[in-house]
Amino acid sequence: MYYSLQEHCRLVKGATRGAIYDFKTGKVHSINSSATQMLSACQDNALENLWDRSSTENIQYMDFLNKLQEKGLGFFLDTPPAPIPEMIQPDIPVKLDFLWLELTAACNSKCLHCYSESGPSRKSLDLVPHQRWLSLIDEAKAAGATDIQLIGGEPLLYPKWRDLVIRAHQIGYEYIEIFTNATLIDDDCITFFKQYNVNIATTIYATNAAIHDSVTLQPNSFTKTMTAIEKILNAAIPLRIASIIMKVNEQEVPNILKLYEDLGMPDAYPDVIRPTGRGDDHHLLPTTYTKPPIKPPFYTDETAFTASHTYCQCLAGKIAVTSTGDVIPCIFARDQVCGNILTHSLTDILMDHPLQQCWHTTKDQINKCKDCEYRYACSDCRPLAQGCSPEKSWIASPTACSYDPYTGKW
Ligand SMILES: C[S@@+](CC[C@H](N)C(=O)[O-])C[C@H]1O[C@@H](n2cnc3c(N)ncnc32)[C@H](O)[C@@H]1O
Repeated sequence: MYYSLQEHCRLVKGATRGAIYDFKTGKVHSINSSATQMLSACQDNALENLWDRSSTENIQYMDFLNKLQEKGLGFFLDTPPAPIPEMIQPDIPVKLDFLWLELTAACNSKCLHCYSESGPSRKSLDLVPHQRWLSLIDEAKAAGATDIQLIGGEPLLYPKWRDLVIRAHQIGYEYIEIFTNATLIDDDCITFFKQYNVNIATTIYATNAAIHDSVTLQPNSFTKTMTAIEKILNAAIPLRIASIIMKVNEQEVPNILKLYEDLGMPDAYPDVIRPTGRGDDHHLLPTTYTKPPIKPPFYTDETAFTASHTYCQCLAGKIAVTSTGDVIPCIFARDQVCGNILTHSLTDILMDHPLQQCWHTTKDQINKCKDCEYRYACSDCRPLAQGCSPEKSWIASPTACSYDPYTGKW
């Protein structure tokens, strides 16, 4: 007699334990090391050859296999099971779908934690000519991008930001967003946003001026941002509010959550500061607030499972272009420069090794994760892991994970 996992299930081995990924229910079942070894051995051996029929182990193993069968995960058969298809790792070409354009390094705020170290005196870092931004928007669209975000610094300080929105709108970007501190939004901006279907993202650090302005270091910024939020909502312009938590505002989390609810955004959740740029300062770190830790339950589906063997689902398909023309895989990954649009075409940069390597960073390359049975169901923030690692390694294990795949313990 033989035993096989169902066609919609996959066994993933970790250093100690294993996991059965069930594409039908989406569940990821954790199994201990002997169960993992046994299921693995079942693939090539009749059950009679795996253990002594008279031993008590037999009962225990058969109980386990029966339980798997009851759960729809495995089945007994008379002939050797068909070999489980090896996880083919096709060189799936990743298509560009989203880009951030950091139009300017200048900002009217000088936020304590700014990853791009933007501020009033940074305009000298704006090296991309207006024509190049325009041609880049065209090039990115031709390469497949559907979504674009104008960011900075403060994007509304870039004199011709409207031109760029108009171009993106004209050539058919599906989603156009401006990430702004909103302090410069006036009634003309509101009319323009409506006309060109612009989505707005902005940031609130507290529900009071004292704490919010102590983060932005821009006097009256809280009042200006809240006034703009009201205008945006009154005009029914789609709005996203981010809140980044650090030491000075961590007590504000409950108030911020209440504000989200009052504004009709109950699903928003404050994020924590990334240790990048001015944010790379342990004095700024919150002492109690953390991102939710990585922990079970994990969920899976066949597409995500296959994709996670090949590329990083968070990074793949995205680029950020800084005001100096550098292309980086994410706004937080400042030191992963993959080319510069002032010297190279975007098409070349998209095909070049550095960007492809970032996009194809899989958990099979990440310290600790590569030995974890949850590696094809779990996700993390690479720049966060990198920023938190003492050696600033791109393949550092995520800090928000307390699982030790070598002992199998959380
Ligand atoms: C860099 S700002 C640019 C847009 C605009 N000037 C603003 O202040 O919203 C975009 C977002 O990045 C967030 N941000 C800046 N530095 C960060 C860091 N070190 N970690 C996490 N988020 C950060 C800001 O709080 C803001 O929500």
